[in-house]
Amino acid sequence: MQNTPHIPVLYREVTELFKEIDGHVVDCTMGYGGHSSLMLESNPSLNLIAIDQDQTAIDFSTKRLSKFTDRVMIKKGRFSSVIKDILENVDDIKGVLADIGVSSLQLDKKERGFSYESDNLDMRMDKDAILSAANVVNEYSADELEKLLLEYGELRNYKKLASVIVSKRPFSSAKELSDTLKPYMPRGKKIHPATLLMQAIRIEVNDELGELKTLLKNIEDAKPKGAKIAIISFHSLEDRIVKQTFARWAKSCICPAEAMRCTCGNNHSLGKIITKKPIMAQDDELKQNPRSRSAKMRVFEMGS
Ligand SMILES: C[S@@+](CC[C@H](N)C(=O)[O-])C[C@H]1O[C@@H](n2cnc3c(N)ncnc32)[C@H](O)[C@@H]1O
Repeated sequence: MQNTPHIPVLYREVTELFKEIDGHVVDCTMGYGGHSSLMLESNPSLNLIAIDQDQTAIDFSTKRLSKFTDRVMIKKGRFSSVIKDILENVDDIKGVLADIGVSSLQLDKKERGFSYESDNLDMRMDKDAILSAANVVNEYSADELEKLLLEYGELRNYKKLASVIVSKRPFSSAKELSDTLKPYMPRGKKIHPATLLMQAIRIEVNDELGELKTLLKNIEDAKPKGAKIAIISFHSLEDRIVKQTFARWAKSCICPAEAMRCTCGNNHSLGKIITKKPIMAQDDELKQNPRSRSAKMRVFEMGS
């Protein structure tokens, strides 16, 4: 694993979860094939459909997973739309995994613009996508910038930051942007001050919350029988979406809270929550892979 550009988070827990599956698992975020190859290696009865929107990840993992040829199908695109087709046409989907977020290679390759030290402003996971970080930073209104800095970056001085961006733009690189905003950024002990700023812009550029919501909606509509749905998120907003969706899926009675008695039939549960609390990285993994520190995995099992 150390020789690959990305160390998969919660690798033991993901392997364990899918090790007895007999059927297809959809890896919505194949990336550099870390989770995909662990699942394929540990379970010979598992077939994989793997999705990514990043051509670099597709090229890398097509080679990496080639030894599993007839057990793997790789699809390029956004998982929100690709999964719909898969769920409609493949009838033994027994698992869905999404490891939402950015890969180490995307972060480390400066030309992709994900790092605050980058010489450009891009951040598109799919290089053919229309919206880039440059559009967001240089063209969004102050109100729009404030909203994303507050909601996605949870930055308390979002108003000040938005007004500095508007008064000093255009920016041509992430480095220029983060250097300009550095004096106004909160000083965290563990993370670089610009990390939250970059994260907020990245979430907007790649519509990360919209992607997650649509993925969950498509799974809810398809109700793949007996499938384990595992979502790994790195942001509190994403984790909240997953937590609330799973709680709603588990509910049997969907009558309004104020109803005096149940009239809905009390048979609406789609299955059960497997993880009452999110699974997080253990100490040895945190040491080996510091990027796992904010990963949270929640699992839901669809009824059969
Ligand atoms: C954290 S990495 C996944 C790493 C992977 N689990 C591994 O072990 O190598 C996330 C990957 O998902 C992809 N991705 C993120 N959001 C996506 C989306 N909405 N549709 C398709 N791919 C997406 C990114 O391009 C990136 O390669």
